Amino acid sequence: MTHEKSLTYSEYLKLDGLLAQQQPLSGEHDELLFIVIHQVYELWFKQCLHELRYLRAAFEAGDTPRALAALKRTLTILKTLVGQVDILETMTPLSFNAFRQRLQASSGFQSFQFRAVEFLLGHKRASALENYPAESRERSALRQLMGEPSIYDAFLRYLQLKGVPMPEAALRRDTAQATVADEGVQQALLIVYRTLPFEAQVCERLVDLDEGLQEWRYRHVKMVERTIGAKPGSGGSSGAAYLRDTLFRPLFPDLWAIRAQL
Ligand code: HEM
Repeated sequence: MTHEKSLTYSEYLKLDGLLAQQQPLSGEHDELLFIVIHQVYELWFKQCLHELRYLRAAFEAGDTPRALAALKRTLTILKTLVGQVDILETMTPLSFNAFRQRLQASSGFQSFQFRAVEFLLGHKRASALENYPAESRERSALRQLMGEPSIYDAFLRYLQLKGVPMPEAALRRDTAQATVADEGVQQALLIVYRTLPFEAQVCERLVDLDEGLQEWRYRHVKMVERTIGAKPGSGGSSGAAYLRDTLFRPLFPDLWAIRAQL
């Protein structure tokens, strides 16, 4: 069915523009996959940021159903992000080598949206800003996110709204700092798990999110090891060794610390 003046699928989705953005620099067969997969990741990062902001607002409003819905969607996207690693692992070291030098110093290390996801989740560090030029849009957006409450800060306030006795110091902490383990918060979380089953569900979904991001880091480093071995990264780091150092670091340490006491 055609309607003369009606918006088309391609117009609505701006497909002409979107599908013009995959421009391999070599004639190598696998470079298109490399570009497509990174672009797809960036689109999902964009959606994750959208959902995480929604989650933060739901926490601030004390809205459990909305928080659980945003968490469910984010977790489903995260599973897809992890699963997509399989696709890039079909590229052999030899075929990557055939175009790797074309990347010059570019690297996922420079992904501004990935850093924004980390910052929103509370993994904040000023050093990450230095990867972006002083007056760039990326640096100022990350600087702004640094100062804003993270998902975890909003979660603690959400629990307080639900009547959980949350330590004042944790609620008033400097939100520009990374999340740190806090024994007072852990005591409060134990109360949640023992007495508030709905809020405990929210805690469990945050543990899923934390585990999911760690899973992505693990799959990424294995992909890196099998594709470039011990070679340094194009972004200037030691490569897999640098990435291995980022493994097994929880976003929400309190939610892990209490498990031995449950
Ligand atoms: C053959 C495939 C890939 C290789 C060999 C690779 C390699 C690397 C290396 C060596 C690093 C460390 C920084 C550096 O020195 O460059 C890195 C970081 C990173 N890569 Fe990849 N990568 C691959 C695919 C991907 C994909 C598909 C994504 C999705 C967006 C991605 C996202 C990232 C991110 C976000 C970082 C920063 C991690 C952090 O600092 O914690 N990479 N990658």
